[in-house]
Amino acid sequence: MANVAILELSRNCAKTVEEIVKLERKIFPKHESLASFFHDELKKKNSGLLYLHVDGELAGYVMYSWPSSLYASITKLAVKEQYRGQGHGETLLKAAVEKCRTRKVSRIMLHVDPLRTPAVNLYKKYGFLVDTLIQGYYSSDRDAYRMYRDFDSS
Ligand SMILES: CC(C)(COP(=O)(O)OP(=O)(O)OC[C@H]1O[C@@H](n2cnc3c(N)ncnc32)[C@H](O)[C@@H]1OP(=O)(O)O)[C@@H](O)C(=O)NCCC(=O)NCCS
Repeated sequence: MANVAILELSRNCAKTVEEIVKLERKIFPKHESLASFFHDELKKKNSGLLYLHVDGELAGYVMYSWPSSLYASITKLAVKEQYRGQGHGETLLKAAVEKCRTRKVSRIMLHVDPLRTPAVNLYKKYGFLVDTLIQGYYSSDRDAYRMYRDFDSS
């Protein structure tokens, strides 16, 4: 059985950051890629990144931030093509949501291209609702759903 581990990125782990940036460039088109902002994003005090190893290999990652005490955001989620459909995306999303919840936010938000069916389905499965469609969010011909999940304050 494969050995699956979720790890938290430590800011000084340059090798892992480079691996994640490489994967980000491969998976996302330039206008949707955080690759060139990764290092800046990771320097922020209110953001975090979890990554998933399968038998020691990088298989996916999720990035999140909590811009205010009111809400948190899932800023990126990706699983390497050969590792998809095995529950890793869901595991990463779940772990990021738990991290955000420790910040005592009552809402988690995210943006996703409605054409990214696997991602939209995953977010819906995990309780996210579509708030609105933002036209031209990623580029002139690519829209985004803004999605959210609320938690009660108890
Ligand atoms: C979205 C993504 C992270 C899902 O990762 P994954 O590891 O394949 O997902 P999981 O195996 O955990 O699947 C969890 C749920 O996602 C949905 N899902 C996953 N793959 C799907 C597919 N090919 N078609 C439809 N729904 C799918 C399903 O609801 C699934 O639950 P189920 O197995 O009970 O049906 C992955 O497809 C990916 O990296 N896509 C490219 C990047 C991307 O779109 N990121 C999101 C925008 S930032």
